[in-house]
Amino acid sequence: MTAAATSALSPAVAVGVIGAGTMGAGIARVAAEAGHQVLLYDAVDGVVEAALEDLRTRLGRSVDRGRMTAEAATGLVQRITACRSLDQMAGAGLVIEAIVEDLDTKIQVLGKVAAVVGDDAILATNTSSLSVTAIAARIDDPGRVVGMHFFNPAPVMPLVEVVSGTGTSPETADMVFATAAAWGKTPVRCASTPGFIVNRVARPFGGEALRLVAEGVADPATIDAVLTGAGGFRMGPFALMDLVGLDVSLAVSKSVYTQTFHDPRFTPSVIQQALVDAGHLGVKTGRGFYDYTDGAEKPLPATHAPAPRPRAVAVHGGLGQGTGLVPRLEAAGVEVGSVDEPGPGFLSVDGVVVRPTDGRTATRLMVEEVVVGGDIVVFDLVRDWSEADRVAVAVAAQAEHNSLASAAGLFQAGGLDVSVVADSPGLVMMRIVAQLSSVAADAVTLSVAEPGAIDTAMRLGTNYPVGPLEWADQIGARAVVAALDHIRDHYGEDRYRVASLLRQSSLTGVPLRPVEMLPERT
Ligand code: NAI
Repeated sequence: MTAAATSALSPAVAVGVIGAGTMGAGIARVAAEAGHQVLLYDAVDGVVEAALEDLRTRLGRSVDRGRMTAEAATGLVQRITACRSLDQMAGAGLVIEAIVEDLDTKIQVLGKVAAVVGDDAILATNTSSLSVTAIAARIDDPGRVVGMHFFNPAPVMPLVEVVSGTGTSPETADMVFATAAAWGKTPVRCASTPGFIVNRVARPFGGEALRLVAEGVADPATIDAVLTGAGGFRMGPFALMDLVGLDVSLAVSKSVYTQTFHDPRFTPSVIQQALVDAGHLGVKTGRGFYDYTDGAEKPLPATHAPAPRPRAVAVHGGLGQGTGLVPRLEAAGVEVGSVDEPGPGFLSVDGVVVRPTDGRTATRLMVEEVVVGGDIVVFDLVRDWSEADRVAVAVAAQAEHNSLASAAGLFQAGGLDVSVVADSPGLVMMRIVAQLSSVAADAVTLSVAEPGAIDTAMRLGTNYPVGPLEWADQIGARAVVAALDHIRDHYGEDRYRVASLLRQSSLTGVPLRPVEMLPERT
């Protein structure tokens, strides 16, 4: 995976797009916007015409809003030619297929195209789950076959994963990388491995959230609220799965799980399967994790009732990822004393010990740690204490009843809503973010992609507030590793094994995402 040396496809060369559905129509628009003549073909009569009509309508709206001139809109549509047969692709220098997600059909169609285009034409697949290696292997000259994975909607989403199969030549990948960049996209390189970058690394976002629900740690509304309010995620995992479609998201999970020969980190969820079996597929059927029917009430996240403001707060030692809480409390007028102490830090509030999670449950901490004698409440990871509006907390099984109220009063004094969740290892945010970081680090080790490409892909492909490798660097690899080791210890499951690179980083202090890799090269 060397830097792009090849130049982009000249706009004077035609681009073929096969399949004029959701993705094909969008890709055709992107190529035409970049100035190419586009040859658009679909096996079903009328689909290309419908796609062109839809495009005219959309561009008409852009013209009305003053975003483009009428001439530009007309020129764009005129650059797209509806094709009646694949033979008409003969003049294309790059053909992108976006047809049904079926290996044999894709091989058959690309095989036909290979026979009509010139020897130097590139054949790209927009597949999101099939092996580019397997597709290329059955086409003459696999060197010119590559994955060009756009995200939906293609005209809007900036990310393109440029996927190299075993046989893809570096020149082919370079050319598609440069072409995607010339089309105004942000391309990232990756190897043809299950789920590529985004669909692989994102799995724990929904996967761990589903485990938390299965274990009764919290309900979907609470988990979504914690991830948006404490994590800065644009959407929580349950709202997202409902939007994408539970059937689609389950199919991706099953595909990655099967293709990784049952890596336990990617185990699909029984809860999700049951909802799919029941026909509850999310927004599109009116019901998924949430009810979208008219008049249905949106469930509220668990939020602790207003509790008394704490009388005295003292910080003992260093709070690690919880450090940002202190200025927030001080800004809210809470008087915070500090006690210089070695060892893991905590806040002492009305005799209650309030600790940032290290992956151990509060119950376990009360057994293992000799502290000043108070009950223990643990609090979750927060991405940015100056922006957060919610935090998850859990109390030890041995604790006295009023301990939660003391802790809740503390966070509430700092202006945060408090979601009490069941006492579980790593709570919500730490468990999900640690697992995302570990799967991302593993993808580096397994040569799926380089660190910069992974973080860029996750920010642009899934809208994460920060890439998972950079996030682990911010939290500190040691803290992430400690959390995962404790979570694995709790469950005894290989699912929570620490990625080799992450453990190395925790020992050496070398960041997972070295600074010289910022930003991702184009
Ligand atoms: P779609 O169902 O909207 O469109 C597929 C189109 O291909 C249909 O119009 C169909 O008539 C046509 N088609 C099927 N077999 C054909 C053949 N043998 N020859 C020519 N045309 C044929 O599907 P969508 O969502 O556009 O997906 C297309 C591809 O893009 C799939 O490989 C999918 O995995 C991938 N993809 C989909 C994304 C999405 O969010 N929908 C995102 C990224 C990739």
